[in-house]
Amino acid sequence: MAPAAAQEWHDVPSPDGRLKVEFAVDQGEAVYRASFRGKPIIDRSMMGFRFKDATPLEGGFTLQAANRSERDTVWEQPWGEQRLIREQSNDLAVTLAAADGRQLKIEFRVFDDGFGFRYILPGTPDKRFVISDELTQFAFAQNYRAWWIPAYREKFSEYEYARSALSAVSVVQTPFTLEGEGVALAIHEAALVDYASMNLRMIADNTRTLQADLSPWSNGDRVRGRGGLKTPWRAVLVADDAAQLANSTLILNLNEPNRLGEVSWAKPMKYIGIFWGMHIGRFTWEPGPDHGATTTRAKEYIDFAAANGIEGVLIEGWNKGWDAPQWWLNGHSRFIQTETADDFDMDAVAAYARERGVTIVGHHETGAQVRDYLTQLDPALAFYNRYGVSAIKLGYVGTRLDMTEWPDGQYAVESFQQVVEAAASRRIAIFPHEPVKDTGLRRTWPNVMSREGARGQEYNGGSPDTGNSPDHVAILPFTRMLSGPLDYTPGVFDFDYHSKRPFNRVPSTLAQQLALFVVLYSPVQMAVDLPENYVGNPAFAFICAVPTDWDRSVTLQGAIGEYVVTARKDRHSDDWFVGALTNEKERNLTLPLTFLEPGRRYEALIYADGEGADWKSAPERIAISKRIVTSTTVLDLALASGGGQAIQLRAVR
Ligand code: NOJ
Ligand code: CA
Repeated sequence: MAPAAAQEWHDVPSPDGRLKVEFAVDQGEAVYRASFRGKPIIDRSMMGFRFKDATPLEGGFTLQAANRSERDTVWEQPWGEQRLIREQSNDLAVTLAAADGRQLKIEFRVFDDGFGFRYILPGTPDKRFVISDELTQFAFAQNYRAWWIPAYREKFSEYEYARSALSAVSVVQTPFTLEGEGVALAIHEAALVDYASMNLRMIADNTRTLQADLSPWSNGDRVRGRGGLKTPWRAVLVADDAAQLANSTLILNLNEPNRLGEVSWAKPMKYIGIFWGMHIGRFTWEPGPDHGATTTRAKEYIDFAAANGIEGVLIEGWNKGWDAPQWWLNGHSRFIQTETADDFDMDAVAAYARERGVTIVGHHETGAQVRDYLTQLDPALAFYNRYGVSAIKLGYVGTRLDMTEWPDGQYAVESFQQVVEAAASRRIAIFPHEPVKDTGLRRTWPNVMSREGARGQEYNGGSPDTGNSPDHVAILPFTRMLSGPLDYTPGVFDFDYHSKRPFNRVPSTLAQQLALFVVLYSPVQMAVDLPENYVGNPAFAFICAVPTDWDRSVTLQGAIGEYVVTARKDRHSDDWFVGALTNEKERNLTLPLTFLEPGRRYEALIYADGEGADWKSAPERIAISKRIVTSTTVLDLALASGGGQAIQLRAVR
């Protein structure tokens, strides 16, 4: 029997009218649904909450008020993949009353590239409660193809993506990407602060309805909240196809404006690091004969950076605490963030860097010991302040924070936010590894510049599981990258690093390693390889030239897990850069340069896969060429297996 008709669906169209979101109180339940180009994408889906210590808010509602409004502004990113972002939406705010009089408010914002909604919980800030379940559902209209990583696993976000039918999904992290006939979708969240991360779980006896599954505290509480709390935005990215999905600005638009004001100290840059040497087993983080972070090596890296116009040098393993056996296991070592290793002289290194105009990128490994890290945080930031260090890479290696809490639960979110704000107050930018997932907070706190939260290049260097598959980097732009910048660390030039890592491989050609600088956006990009492997290689010119701060970015073509082509315009010149890459399949792509300024000539420096290049047998073969092009030129890109192409387009005149 068909359910009784709702009293009234309040519909909110997107500004271009292609997307429609509807809300109703239907038989006492708060429900929404959505359609795109006239076809349902999400069917009637429940909203609400259960509490540990209060009656649920999951039915018996009456609608008290429904107010519409619209927004249309343009805002500027201090740094980013886009300078200007248009924030245009049609909005609906509803107030519901539960049977006992409590008020639940829900706000919807519907953009052309998707929609978001969030709840404002009843009560006053002094009224504390525990959320035992958020009941938000996503009842997908079809059994879409899905791309996902599982939730609640030991390596957290550091998995390769699985592809399956939606119906095969059990419990997944977000962004969760879906594709169907004429539509690509992703579920994610925006503005995650004082709450737990939202994972998604298939509800019992269903094959296409996922429900919010908030990462719990170790005692099972989901969120310890208070009255008036605004939840993070539940976001649904909607586009015609995967390439358009990758161009979405929805997550940033659902975040609050910049609270830090002028942030010129949060500088986009390229950096190199005392890093890859440890991952490939040449150096160690811990003290000893092969210690990586020595004063001498730091100075050599600084010299290399200065000579090549690379702004920063990351130094890992510079401090005390790395010497416990298996420092990476939970609770095995205590990292001291203000004491240097015996063979590392911070005064000398900082002075050397300053004289050569090179920025030191600091490093805080916490070993997931958050409580201890927070007690050290202020002196640790003050320590780096004293040396003029304005960017720190952080890390939370371990499976549980303080041995007990999930790295995406409320404890993680709140302690991470403390670090963001403490660093901001000292004018320090951060790039966390093993982070809480990105939900666009860089708009509000632009000192959170980049983060990991994916299986990065490090897995190719030293992971016992031998590394990533060749399609990984062709999946990331449509999944992980929807959440924000990624500190992937591209730029391997030496593919023969096997003396200590006989089974590891970089599943990529050299040209693809260059393309990653364009495809995988980060305002801070670490050229990962050892400096000696860059010396004398003409392909290094691309790394020196590629910017990390953009005026405009556009994903031009792509198919998830297959290939992608991205173009970006430099923020400080008229030059464009293109990155294209493919999975294991060699392929030819046609690239019309219609994004270039009409009538203008550009000198294209093309870094293509060379004759016979192949990630397995001949990854280093590259063909570098030059030609003049205009917006009417159509380039043929020949990509090798695991290959790619990187193009610098220098505006002439
Ligand atoms: C894991 C991080 O992802 C990696 O970048 C870092 O080198 C190690 N932890 C050590 O902190
Ligand atoms: Ca990591």
